[in-house]
Amino acid sequence: MTEFTHRRADFPDDFLFGVATSAYQIEGHDFGGAGRTHWDDFAATPGNVVRAEHGGRACDHYHMWEQDLDLIADASFDIYRFSASWARVLPEGRGAVNAEGLDFYDRLVDGMLARGIKPALTLYHWELPSVLADLGGWRNRDLAGWFADYTDILCRRIGDRIWSAAPINEPWCVGWLSHFIGAHAPGLRDIRAAARAMHHIGLAHGRATQVMRGLGMGNLGAVCNFEYALPLTDSDADRASAQLYGGIYNRWFVGGMFKGEYPSDVLEGLAPHMPKGWQDDMATIRQPLDWLGLNYYTCKRIAADPAAAWPHLSEHVGDLPKTQMGWEINPDGLAHFLHFVGEYSENLPLYVTENGMANPDSPDQPDHARIAYLNAHLDAARAAMAKGANLKGYIIWSLLDNYEWALGYEKRFGLVHVDFESLQRRPKASYHAVQQALART
Ligand code: FCB
Repeated sequence: MTEFTHRRADFPDDFLFGVATSAYQIEGHDFGGAGRTHWDDFAATPGNVVRAEHGGRACDHYHMWEQDLDLIADASFDIYRFSASWARVLPEGRGAVNAEGLDFYDRLVDGMLARGIKPALTLYHWELPSVLADLGGWRNRDLAGWFADYTDILCRRIGDRIWSAAPINEPWCVGWLSHFIGAHAPGLRDIRAAARAMHHIGLAHGRATQVMRGLGMGNLGAVCNFEYALPLTDSDADRASAQLYGGIYNRWFVGGMFKGEYPSDVLEGLAPHMPKGWQDDMATIRQPLDWLGLNYYTCKRIAADPAAAWPHLSEHVGDLPKTQMGWEINPDGLAHFLHFVGEYSENLPLYVTENGMANPDSPDQPDHARIAYLNAHLDAARAAMAKGANLKGYIIWSLLDNYEWALGYEKRFGLVHVDFESLQRRPKASYHAVQQALART
């Protein structure tokens, strides 16, 4: 497919379009006095990251940010969802501030405003300062307070010009993927570590939200990822396992943040491993929010595995067409979640804060598969809106090909191709298709 089948004019007047990136994935952490992060440590350990690649140079957005903001403005995107790196602002996580780091985010935000782009800030998109990782990282309850302090320092500088802010990108990845599955930094496979992280993330979210309210910032939300959990077969056991998998992935964090409660089926497994007194934190975790962001990519097939330890399940990939990540393309899941989250967020505005696909793109080959993926997901989003979902915006992952974590630089998610040798940016067919669709006539 070569064209976008959606036009800005097909959406309500207040509907916004955006594009997303994150700090460690594009900035280049060797530059500008940023501190070491646990992703540098994870990548330096054999077997964790494809070709041991890391974010040292990445897309060198640190030096090329003006060109990158021009690309966003030239495509008529309304919102730029970006993140700040804790280790760039506070190289040791606490204590001495890196003035160059704060100056960088200050320039970046002014650059967005000068181009008419709304800055949508994420405070933490995974690059924990190594010094704090040494102190136990997300296993350590004190991290929530240190995160609140970092939030205060950063937002005192740029908070006055931020359009929206969310504390933590994809709590499930920070907690479960990184401490139970072990696929992301710090690479732990430990249920006690996972339970603690899953709780302290919520606490950090709550504390940071309080800090931002205290500074007078508005339009504060949360960005969670959702994966469509389908039973591998129709058996009761597989259905129950899919339900539990969905509990850990899709219900735990929104339960804490919007209801002040964790789902009871998940607590059956995690309660013995939770930090003492966790119940007393639930009121802090449940802060009034102004919006909820959903990151959505794919579905997963879940089977019961009684021989395995809790949660007694195994994960499988089904037969739908797949992206370069091996992820099935299933837009039904997006429509499902746009209704599902309404149970938690009531009638708050919803944003799709990430959606997109990896494709083995070369600069000369049009990425038709990506255009088709975006079209299909916007079809699903519009169908959900027609049935009452309060969706107010759609943000594509990602502006640039970038560092795709444990999978290195090979998985290309960008609307813009990046040559990682020359750092040349070349807009792909999808960029031009989106640009045409969003142009204000
Ligand atoms: C999300 C992450 C983002 C990127 C995309 C593909 O889980 O938020 O950084 O890796 O997946």
